[in-house]
Amino acid sequence: MSERSLLIVVLAAGKGTRMRSTRPKVLHRIANLSMLGHVLSRCQEIGAARVAVVVGPDMADVEAEAVARFPGAAIFVQPDQLGTADAVKAAGPLIAGHDGDVLVLYADTPLLRTETLARLRTRLAGDSDIVVLGFEAADPGGYGRLLCGPDGRLTAIREDKEASDAERAVRLCNSGVMGFRGRHLAGLLARIGNANAKGEYYLTDAVGIANGDGLTASVITCGEDEVLGVNDRTQLATAEAIFQSRARRAAMLAGVTMWAPETVYLSFDTQLGRDVEIEPNVVFGPGVTVEDGAVIRANCHFEKARIGPGAIVGPFSRLRPGADIGPDAHIGNFVEVKNATVESGAKANHLSYIGDGRVGSRANIGAGTIFCNYDGFAKHRTDIGAGAFVGSNSSLVAPVKIGDGAYIGSGSVITKEVAAGDLAISRSPQVAHTKWAERFRLRMLRHRDKKG
Ligand code: UD1
Ligand code: MG
Repeated sequence: MSERSLLIVVLAAGKGTRMRSTRPKVLHRIANLSMLGHVLSRCQEIGAARVAVVVGPDMADVEAEAVARFPGAAIFVQPDQLGTADAVKAAGPLIAGHDGDVLVLYADTPLLRTETLARLRTRLAGDSDIVVLGFEAADPGGYGRLLCGPDGRLTAIREDKEASDAERAVRLCNSGVMGFRGRHLAGLLARIGNANAKGEYYLTDAVGIANGDGLTASVITCGEDEVLGVNDRTQLATAEAIFQSRARRAAMLAGVTMWAPETVYLSFDTQLGRDVEIEPNVVFGPGVTVEDGAVIRANCHFEKARIGPGAIVGPFSRLRPGADIGPDAHIGNFVEVKNATVESGAKANHLSYIGDGRVGSRANIGAGTIFCNYDGFAKHRTDIGAGAFVGSNSSLVAPVKIGDGAYIGSGSVITKEVAAGDLAISRSPQVAHTKWAERFRLRMLRHRDKKG
């Protein structure tokens, strides 16, 4: 890898009108991370020293996302969309002072791999002043074509609208990813004009100009999937599908079993341990970690949650932010956990809400138990001690504490602390009216016969 420091210019000024959205295009998400966020993650991984994000006017939310995802990112506003060279020029102040490598990436091309950028940099550190990432397009229409000499060197990039018929027949296309030895870039940009079919300043013209200067340009290639650009929602869905299939494959190769991988949706940051088993139809929202050997049964939804080693969760469980499921704990069907710790070996197997609290180790939460955590104004905590037993259909009105090993009678509404080892029951005592049902039935039948 090159020792030279790296500046990456990320182009994000496009309005993305074909998304038909009030949200800027590059903030649309893939696997729960904005496309801009994906590109900035690659910038982190490749070790960029500086990142410049070029945005259009009035894109405060894009600026905020850029700074959140790459702290220290410099934001430059391109006032008018005059072309890709004009966009890179917007980052001129950073380029001027930069002697290392400069990479140009598009924020709407989120599937690029870090390894590919590393290959590009290696080439830049070797024999080339400019390196362009190319690909063989199934349908090259619309792309810039990479024109190479007999020695394989890149001599020019011809935009589709400017290309001759012979040039249009070339299938090797420009992905848009370009790398420059930084000391040449400002000089090249200064000489790019806009006398072309679109009246735009084409960054791609830098290659022809560089050749005229006796500089060397070359091409490295990658698969078309990797450089898919997202312009509308159908391409967004295609990019999502490619991301998901890559992420599932990586998880399986790392030791995760999936019965039906095509039905499991992962987030960009999902962490799955070894020997985790995932049944069909599970959605991992952002911020989820599943530790070794846990089993996720079918039809679950998780978000900002941790599942400890050997735990069994599902079918039909929902873990919301702050759910922390301990080792070997069981969370069963129609159980929702939010901002609560379920300690090791505890069980809540049926129809419960566990919100804002703690379930001590090996405690048992009966079917239909509800943590009544909200009084309409504030949230309160419920604390259940180790080994406690909460009978079915109990309401625990927070704030409330149940001591270690305590027993709660079924159907109780618990409003006061229960000491360790106690039994608490709070329901009306059962009353038996001897033979009442028989007498009632006879009376009703007699009444009906008289009328009929
Ligand atoms: C560009 C390339 C083309 C390549 C193709 C790959 C040029 C002249 N052409 O064409 O060779 O095959 O990408 O998809 O570079 N942008 C700005 N400001 C601008 C113009 C563009 O920020 O003034 C951003 C856009 O938001 C987008 C990217 O740059 O993310 C590319 O712009 P776009 O207009 O899509 O270029 P293409 O015509 O597709
Ligand atoms: Mg484009």
